[in-house]
Amino acid sequence: MGRKKRGDILGGPDPSGPPIVVMRDIGDGIEIDDDRGRVDVDEVHRFLSEEAYWVPGRSRDTIERLVRESTRVVAAYDGDRLVGFARVVSDRTNFAWLGDVLVVEGHRGRGIGTELVREAVEYEPERDLAWYLSTRDARGLYEKVGFQPADPDRVMTRPRA
Ligand SMILES: CC(C)(COP(=O)(O)OP(=O)(O)OC[C@H]1O[C@@H](n2cnc3c(N)ncnc32)[C@H](O)[C@@H]1OP(=O)(O)O)[C@@H](O)C(=O)NCCC(=O)NCCS
Repeated sequence: MGRKKRGDILGGPDPSGPPIVVMRDIGDGIEIDDDRGRVDVDEVHRFLSEEAYWVPGRSRDTIERLVRESTRVVAAYDGDRLVGFARVVSDRTNFAWLGDVLVVEGHRGRGIGTELVREAVEYEPERDLAWYLSTRDARGLYEKVGFQPADPDRVMTRPRA
């Protein structure tokens, strides 16, 4: 286990984005990296189009844009192969949203999802903000890093059209 910062590498084309890229070895040959330039867009697109229940039909161009424009993307690698992914959208002041969390089949159940989500939420300045997400069945995963059911008296949503 260890956490290293790879110098002053830009986190993406947006200069207001995080300036430091974080790379972390979580053991078992798996590395967590927030370098968006390293993301295998084809693999994320394949997974989201074939296996994810929440976003059927997103094009590869859309995935590429989301990787480029999200506040932060965090991915897990087994060697050069992307085996996990999550992204964060945040105003870096009040709220952060976590979405498109995935671990490819064959790598699930080894703690990769937990470490991906942990790396996403426990990062300055987002770690102290109010976080939001939606999930159908993986509540236990998010409870590990502090998520709770939303307070129905305070939180409203405007559902997707
Ligand atoms: C959900 C997902 C990201 C979890 O990744 P993972 O690497 O297998 O997760 P972990 O090994 O870190 O497991 C974390 C915990 O969450 C639980 N968990 C994982 N997936 C779950 C699911 N679909 N439903 C309920 N609990 C789940 C595990 O049982 C584990 O709990 P435990 O440590 O008490 O046994 C992965 O299964 C996946 O990509 N699934 C398909 C896509 C998906 O459903 N994404 C989430 C959308 S919100």
